[in-house]
Amino acid sequence: MKRIILTGDRPTGHLHIGHYVGSLKERVKMQNDDNYDAFYIMIADAQALTDNADNPEKVRDNVLEVMLDYLAVGLDPKKVIFFIQSGVRALPELTAYYMNFVPYSRVIRNPTVKSEVRTKNFGRSVPIGFINYPISQAADITAFKANMIPVGEDQNPMLEQTREIVRSFNRIYKTNVLVECEAVLSDNASCLRLPGTDGNEKMSKSIGNCIYLSDEASVIKKKVNSIVTFPREIDAPGVLKNNVLFIYLDAFCKEDSFEKFYPEFKDLDELKFAYRKGGIGDGRIKKFLYDVLNDELTPVRERRKSFAGRTDELMAILKEGTEKANMVADQTLAEVKNAMGINYFA
Ligand code: TRP
Repeated sequence: MKRIILTGDRPTGHLHIGHYVGSLKERVKMQNDDNYDAFYIMIADAQALTDNADNPEKVRDNVLEVMLDYLAVGLDPKKVIFFIQSGVRALPELTAYYMNFVPYSRVIRNPTVKSEVRTKNFGRSVPIGFINYPISQAADITAFKANMIPVGEDQNPMLEQTREIVRSFNRIYKTNVLVECEAVLSDNASCLRLPGTDGNEKMSKSIGNCIYLSDEASVIKKKVNSIVTFPREIDAPGVLKNNVLFIYLDAFCKEDSFEKFYPEFKDLDELKFAYRKGGIGDGRIKKFLYDVLNDELTPVRERRKSFAGRTDELMAILKEGTEKANMVADQTLAEVKNAMGINYFA
C-alpha cells in the first residue's frame, strides 16, 4: 500500500497556534520521518470562496500568507508538493460526479458544516457551494489517492463523507480506482482542539481569539495576559478544569521548559499539583506560558520574516507544485471516467 499524504488549509487569514499544534507540527514530523510516497499540501482557495464569494481579495491575499506560515513552521518544498486548489482542473469535474452519490439529507447533517452555518450567520441564504464543500473535499483527497490526512479533529466528518463516496463509487462501478483515507491526528488530546484565548471552544479568526504564528512577542504577551481565569485569592486552590492556561501548557510544554523558565518545578504534573493546592497566582502561570509560547514561536516568526517579500519565489513553488498536482489528478480523473464508462473518445 502506498503512503500518500494530503492536507490543506483555507486561505482566509494567517494560521494560528491551533493550526500549529493541531496539524502543522504533525505535518513537519511526517515530512521528516520520510516514510511516504508523496506528500501534498493544498491551499484551498476554492473552498475558501464558498463562504467568501463577496470578498475574493481576502482569499487571494491570504494565499501567500498561508504559504509563508507553511515555510515558517519548517515545511520544506523539497519534500512537499504545495499547490493551489483552484489551479487543478480535475477537481471540480470529480466533485460534479461525486455529488450524485450524496443525498441532500446527508450533506446537511454534517456536524462541522452545521456548526459553521450557525456561526457564520448565513441564515436561510447559505450558498449551495458551501453546503457542498465536503463533497469537493472528497475530490481533493481522492484525486491524489491520498490515504493519510493530517488534520484537526473538526475535519473528521469530511473524511467520513469522503470514505462514503469512495465506497459508493467503487461498489457501483465495480472498481478500486478510489482509495479510502484516514485522519492522522495528534496524540496529545490538548492539541486536538485548542480553545481560543477567550475560552471559546474554537480558536477562530472570526471570533478574534487567536494567537497567530506571525504575532510579535509583545502581542503574544498581551494576548496571554488577556486570558480570563477564575478569580480567587492566591492561597485558594487553583482549578484545572477548563483552565485555558493549562490547556495551552499541556499543548506546548516541552521537556526543557521547566529547567529554562520555571526551575522550581520539575514538570507539568508537579506544577499542576502545586497549583491545585493553592499559593500560585495566575499571573505567574501566565508569565511561564508566555515564556514557553514565545520560545517555540520565535524561530517560527523569524523564519517567516526571512521568506516575507520573496513573493516570486513563493509563487514559483506554488506554480511548480500545481503543475505536478494537475498531472496526478488528470490521471485519476481519466481512471474515474473510464470506470464510469464515459470515456467516449479514449
Ligand atoms: N476543510 C479544510 C479546512 O477548513 C481545508 C481542506 C480543503 C482540506 N480540502 C482538504 C483538508 C483536503 C484536508 C484534505 O481546514
